[in-house]
Amino acid sequence: MRRCIDLALKGSGHAAPNPMVGAVLVHEGIIIGEGYHHHWGGPHAEVNCVNSVPPELQELIPRSTLYVSLEPCAHHGKTPPCADLVVSQNIPEVVIGCIDAFSKVAGKGIEKLRNAGINVTLGVLESECRHLNRRFFTFHEQQRPYVILKWAQSADGYIAPANREPVRISNPFADRLVHRWRTEEAGIMVGTQTALLDNPRLTARLWPGKSPVRIVLDLQDKVPGSHYVKDGSVRTLILTSTEIDTAQPLVPQVLAQLHRESVLSVIVEGGAVLLQQFISGGHWDEARIITGQTALGGGLSAPVLKNARMLESNHIAGDRIDIFVPAEH
Ligand SMILES: NC(=O)c1ccc[n+]([C@@H]2O[C@H](COP(=O)([O-])OP(=O)(O)OC[C@H]3O[C@@H](n4cnc5c(N)ncnc54)[C@H](OP(=O)(O)O)[C@@H]3O)[C@@H](O)[C@H]2O)c1
Repeated sequence: MRRCIDLALKGSGHAAPNPMVGAVLVHEGIIIGEGYHHHWGGPHAEVNCVNSVPPELQELIPRSTLYVSLEPCAHHGKTPPCADLVVSQNIPEVVIGCIDAFSKVAGKGIEKLRNAGINVTLGVLESECRHLNRRFFTFHEQQRPYVILKWAQSADGYIAPANREPVRISNPFADRLVHRWRTEEAGIMVGTQTALLDNPRLTARLWPGKSPVRIVLDLQDKVPGSHYVKDGSVRTLILTSTEIDTAQPLVPQVLAQLHRESVLSVIVEGGAVLLQQFISGGHWDEARIITGQTALGGGLSAPVLKNARMLESNHIAGDRIDIFVPAEH
């Protein structure tokens, strides 16, 4: 199952809005085939796994065990049901990491397998398998995107200088990491003042992969058409007073809108006002804070997390990268 998870991760940034899934076929302790879901619309992990078995070993498939990180699907989507494939291949034993959360699938794949007389084992490395697809599970179970908050703060805790001139806080290596993070999420969001003052592109230029959908709060149509976020280079949702009722709390409306737009996850990259609203409503799943090595001596204070627990802390060329999750997780 650990190998399934490693394989599944190769689909990171490409599988969404589908889950990342890995599968391995084992005959008497030896892997004879493996596969993963490479990209949305493409063959599922189970199909790639079965197809990877070399011709001379195919006769072993009906005497092998299939390990798969997520319940095989039972419905006709872009591809035929994987549960049918498992049955037609006469695979006698299937070990599953976790149950699918997608209502068209949940439990139905397992039922199909069991009805065909296949021996099914459930819940192997379940929490690791659910963590792997935490974006997918959050989206389907809570009808909202998975929310990652991200900011860079100076050594003395500011995210912008007093004059609001854009300044470098993180080093070029941390910047690459941030661009990698962007390729892993479906959406990226900023507040009005950040879009106006920093004129960010919000694309993944320093890491290979897809750029996320840009989401820009612009309730009063302040961001000029000449700014990068309005250059049309990447799909962009500009949230105006048409989408947002300013008399109501902002963040729940944003999350509902992103759910409607099938945006599975969003990385919120500032500024302080927007981030603090996500924090105060408890609308976040991860916070990633980069602390640079230079001090600004004053300016716009970094947001303050509440009810947070540190998950990990690393250094990258001198900058500190801290990852937090809500305390109850
Ligand atoms: N170091 C970092 O990681 C980082 C990241 C991003 C930004 N920044 C810095 O942060 C500064 C901008 O941050 P900021 O905190 O001033 O602004 P912000 O969070 O980018 O945008 C907040 C603005 O959005 C508009 N808005 C209207 N209704 C809102 C609502 N209900 N919730 C949230 N926003 C609403 C308001 O714009 P109006 O006031 O125009 O109506 C509000 O001032 C810039 O100097 C930028 O350089 C730093």
